[in-house]
Amino acid sequence: MGSFTELPSDVIVAVIGDPITHSKSPIMHNSWLKKAGIEGKYTAIHVRPEELRTFAKVVRDSNMRGFNATLPHKEALIELCDELDDDAAAIGAVNTVSNIDGMLIGSNTDAFGFIQNIKNQHPDFDFTSGPVLVIGAGGAAKAVLYGLLQEGVSEIFLTNRTREKAEASAKLDKHIHVVDWDARDEYVDKAGLIVNTTSLGMVGKPVLELNLGGITPQTLVSDIVYAPLETALLREAKEKGAQTATGVGMLIEQGRKSFHHWFGVWPEPDQKLEDQLLEFSS
Ligand code: ATR
Repeated sequence: MGSFTELPSDVIVAVIGDPITHSKSPIMHNSWLKKAGIEGKYTAIHVRPEELRTFAKVVRDSNMRGFNATLPHKEALIELCDELDDDAAAIGAVNTVSNIDGMLIGSNTDAFGFIQNIKNQHPDFDFTSGPVLVIGAGGAAKAVLYGLLQEGVSEIFLTNRTREKAEASAKLDKHIHVVDWDARDEYVDKAGLIVNTTSLGMVGKPVLELNLGGITPQTLVSDIVYAPLETALLREAKEKGAQTATGVGMLIEQGRKSFHHWFGVWPEPDQKLEDQLLEFSS
């Protein structure tokens, strides 16, 4: 992890966050940089909210191609960027910034990552085939909702422990209907796709309690949590004969698109890298 006040000159891309120590992005992007024969490094940099504006200035004046942002910077970067692409503007969050001759262009590759990961794991899944149950209404949920709507999903049931947050997200589109956190089990059998966007089920966090009694072999259950790779939710869904989509591919796919923004190259899928990312998560 580096400090942005003394950035080595070989750092050309980075991920910033507060905290940042557990980011898997450096392993991933450094592997892709090496494979593409691009000189320079990707590093994790601890940037506190009050330092974000100064960091943006350092990047503008540097040779850096750009950076990724994670919690808590994604929303604040909306204001700090000089331009936003359509995805970042619609989602209201930036996870990828490109530095084009001192101009900072904000993008969001999380929605792409979420959708592409499902397409990779279930190429025949039809997003328009039925309603989707989305659990959680935090930052990750915004990108998931946007991605689903872009794919033509006709109805989304959105549930969150804090109902007001779900209601704020539901205002974005008439296809999103808020359902009570305590009533979430009732929507399991109505949904063709169930997505956990909360941190529940992650190592060290409580499991997501959801009664999967109503799922069918056609139901697809997806979790954005990838540590563990198979969460209790996915394990139970599988045991009940449903389809599942694990979360690490979302991390990889959002990263591939960020890399493409910076270098114009799509990194190739790489099983060894995926295994390595999981090893570092456990
Ligand atoms: P992220 O940007 O990763 O989505 P976040 O914005 O902090 O992170 O959102 C975390 C999500 O997990 C929220 O939907 C949160 O619910 P609240 O809005 O009610 O906080 C949900 N979450 C976290 N811990 C939870 C718990 N113990 N029970 C239910 N939901 C939880």
